[in-house]
This record gives sequence, structure tokens and C-alpha cells, in this order.
Amino acid sequence: MNFKKKILCIGAGYVGGPSMAMIAFKCPDYRVTVVDVNSERIDAWNSPQLPFYEPGLEDIIKKRRGKNLFFSTDIENQIRENDIIFVCVNTPTKNYGAGAHMAADLQYWEKTARQILKHSRSSKIVIEKCTLPVKTALAMEKILSSSRGKIKFEVLSNPEFMAEGSAINDLENPDRVLIGSHETKSGLKARTELTEIYQRWIPSSKIITSNIWSSELSKLVANAFLAQRVSSINSISALCEKTDADISEVARAVGTDDRIGRKFLNAGIGFGGSCFKKDILNLVYLCRHYGLDEVAAYWESVVKINEYQQQRFIAAMLHSMFHTLAGKRICILGFAFKADTSDTRESPAIYITQKLLSEKAELVISDPRALKNAAADLSGAEGNVQFIEDPYEAARGCHALVVLTDWSLYRMLDYKKIYRSMTKPAFIFDGRNIVDREKCFAIGFNVYAIGKPALTHL
Ligand code: UDX
Ligand code: ADP
Repeated sequence: MNFKKKILCIGAGYVGGPSMAMIAFKCPDYRVTVVDVNSERIDAWNSPQLPFYEPGLEDIIKKRRGKNLFFSTDIENQIRENDIIFVCVNTPTKNYGAGAHMAADLQYWEKTARQILKHSRSSKIVIEKCTLPVKTALAMEKILSSSRGKIKFEVLSNPEFMAEGSAINDLENPDRVLIGSHETKSGLKARTELTEIYQRWIPSSKIITSNIWSSELSKLVANAFLAQRVSSINSISALCEKTDADISEVARAVGTDDRIGRKFLNAGIGFGGSCFKKDILNLVYLCRHYGLDEVAAYWESVVKINEYQQQRFIAAMLHSMFHTLAGKRICILGFAFKADTSDTRESPAIYITQKLLSEKAELVISDPRALKNAAADLSGAEGNVQFIEDPYEAARGCHALVVLTDWSLYRMLDYKKIYRSMTKPAFIFDGRNIVDREKCFAIGFNVYAIGKPALTHL
């Protein structure tokens, strides 16, 4: 088939896979190829068992794979064959050298830029989709223009705003698509080319354009603002626990003000996921770099409150379970960083379970999708850990239930049945405020939630 456009994506992860699947789905006359250095990952994309769980993704992949959507490890040839290249490689926080634990590790990204340069035989549009610090596109341009020849590269920034668990809907009906480009003739031409792809299913009014640096910064700032809302409500949850206020009532009263808005005001054990912490630390690093120490400290406090919230949660558990967890069997309900994903990157569950293990608690971990990742995350941890998918089985004989992920499944469990199988006195620590407190208290549980008075028989 003669395809109208030939698109390549380097990096077949949580961003690259779903976003390219959506382009292939909406544009059957475009050929979309996704490449990765990780051959296991590519094999998974080509198999019935995709590399991670994302609602609705499998359906789209099945419809387009082998028709106009391809997954491959042949990076070099694919660079040669395609005209539009999205870069979706990972940019984790650096864990070594200058900027360690703050700055983004750009080694994978720079390697990709060099690969593009080495294997290109014609001019290309290169699009940054992964989150990168501001001015990365400039560095990419410098690398790409380092060999003077006829081949030209136009670099665009097109950050992805989808959230895991709702990625397919977010990609199909985004609030906006952001395209950053140079305002030069060739920059505007490349911008038009990319806009044409999104216009296939997204109204033009939702396609925003800006200069490259604004686009790069907007992605960091959007994630920082979202994380800030979570830390704001969590900071108030601490105050609620000291007073007679209930955080859900406060969130409702505050969120009904249109200027504030209702979303992202769920108090809990804090945010996880691969983006929030990484992007804020990136922002903090950038601010420090430019000598803006006050601004850096302001954003850093969002991460500090997140850590504080998890420490508070563990301290409350210890306090209410008579100051010792040693030898106690604790059932962890949920390990993923949020519902509807198998992803556990930066999940609060990692820190919390490690702390519980260091208190010598015996853990039974349950999760409908994330047990494989949970086992990998805790592989080096010392202590007694079991992984049992069925929550009823997992809870049997336990002293406490600890809800760490907001899976809707946990709202609907038969807590009476669970209570009967547990050691008494039985506790629930609801780190996501999703359990019916009154009902569980009436069953006999001692119920502790975030930002709400404890309901206890003790
Ligand atoms: C986020 C951004 O939402 C998305 O736009 C960006 O592209 C990537 O980063 P993601 O990390 O997938 O997406 O999930 P998100 O829904 O934002 O949740 C992040 C974390 O915040 C989760 O751990 C979630 O449980 C937590 N959260 C969210 C709360 O604790 N309370 C809330 O009210 C909302
Ligand atoms: P994200 O959540 O941002 O999508 P992931 O870690 O899930 O991050 O995906 C990034 C992918 O990029 C990984 O599968 C990784 O193997 C891939 N990758 C990293 N460097 C390169 C490279 N130089 N060439 C091709 N793929 C790469």
C-alpha cells in the first residue's frame, strides 16, 4: 500500500506505544512504526500479551497491528525509511554525577539524536514527545545540525498530556494538543505537517501552537500544577486529622468554586507515577540553575509534602496498632500507582511496603494487574512478602487491610466476609479514602482514613 505519511516513533513505552497506536487508528492511510532497543518489549507489542495494561489499548492494537502499525527493533533502517520521527525514549531522574536526584538523565535521548543523525539519508521532522527540560530541543538541534550537508532536521516539541489508566480517552479526546516550533519558514512548515496529523480527529481549536521553549516548559508546569493540587489537599488532610474537619467535605466545598475546580482534590497517600516527581525535580533544578532559589524551594515543597504524607500514614499505622507491627500479617490492597494501570513506577506502595517490612511486618500484597511489577520492585527487600491476587485470599488471617491503590474493585468487596477471616482486632487503613467507613466500622473494623476522624472500637 502507498502510505500518505510515514511516521516513526523511537521508544515503545507508556507514551510511545499508546500515542502511536492512536495515530495509526485515526489515520489508516499513514504507516506508523514504533522501534525500541528493548527486544523483549517489542516482542510483547507483537504478541497477544502487551507490555502493560491500559484499558482499551489492546482493542486498538488488534485493529491496526500488521496493517499500518508495526513494532520493530530495526532502529537504523526505520530511521532511514521514515520522514517524521517522534522521540519517546525515557528521561528518568539522573542518579549519578552532577544534578544527581534532580536533573533529567538525557543519555538515552542524546543517543537517539546521534542515531537519527547517523542513519538519516533525507531531511526529517524530529518531534520531542517525552518530557524534557527546557532547551533540550536546542541541544537536539545542535547535534542534528553538526554534520553540514543537504539533510535538514526541523525539531518540534509536542508534549503528551495523557494520563495512564485513561490514556485512550485522553488521546482520543484531549483537552489540547500542544505543538512548539520555531517561527521560521521551515519551522512553520513542519508545524503544519504535524498539525495535519492531529486534525484528522481533533478540532483545530484544541491544537495550540507556541514557540519551542514555551511548549517544553508547559509540560513541566502542567505536571507541577497537578502534583501541587494533590500536595495542597494532602497538606490540609493533616490538619483535618487534628481537628474535627473531614477532608472530603472540605474538598467538595472548596472545589465547587469554579475558579478552583473539583478535579485532583482527592487526598490520599500521595502521588506516584513516572512523571510528577521527575518533572518537579526537573523544574526545581532549572530554577536553581537560573539562580531562582525561592521559586525552586516553592516547587520542592510539593515533593516534600508528598513524602511527608507517606511518613504520616506509616506513623498512624504504627500508633494505632499498639506501636508494633513485628510479626503482624498485613494485607496490602493495591500496588499500582493509581487505578487501571499495571504501572508501579514511583508508586507510594513501594515506599510504604518497604517501611512496613523494616518494621518486620509480614506482607500479603494483592493487586488485580500489578503483581509482576510489585514483585520486581520488592525483589531486593528483606522480609516476609507474599503475592496473592484474590483479595479475599490475601486478607485471610491478616491483622490489617491497607488500601494503597484506588481500584474500584476495592469499593465493592464483601468486607463482612473479609472481616470474618481476619485476626481481631481488625484494622483498615484506607490510603485512598474509597472504603465505606461507617459500614466497615459497623462490621467491627477499626477504620482509619486520610483526613477524617478515626472510627475505632478500641
Ligand atoms: C500525569 C498527568 O496527569 C498527565 O497529564 C501527564 O501526561 C503524565 O503525568 P499520570 O501520572 O499517568 O499522569 O496519572 P495521574 O492521573 O495524573 O495521577 C498521578 C498520581 O496522583 C497518582 O498516583 C494518583 O493516585 C495521584 N492523585 C491524583 C491523587 O493522589 N489525588 C488526586 O486527586 C489525583
Ligand atoms: P515513558 O513512560 O516515558 O514512555 P518508558 O520507560 O515506558 O517511558 O519507555 C521508554 C522506552 O524508550 C523504553 O522502552 C526504552 O527501552 C526505550 N529507549 C531508550 N533509549 C532508546 C534508544 N536509544 N533507542 C530506542 N529506544 C530507546
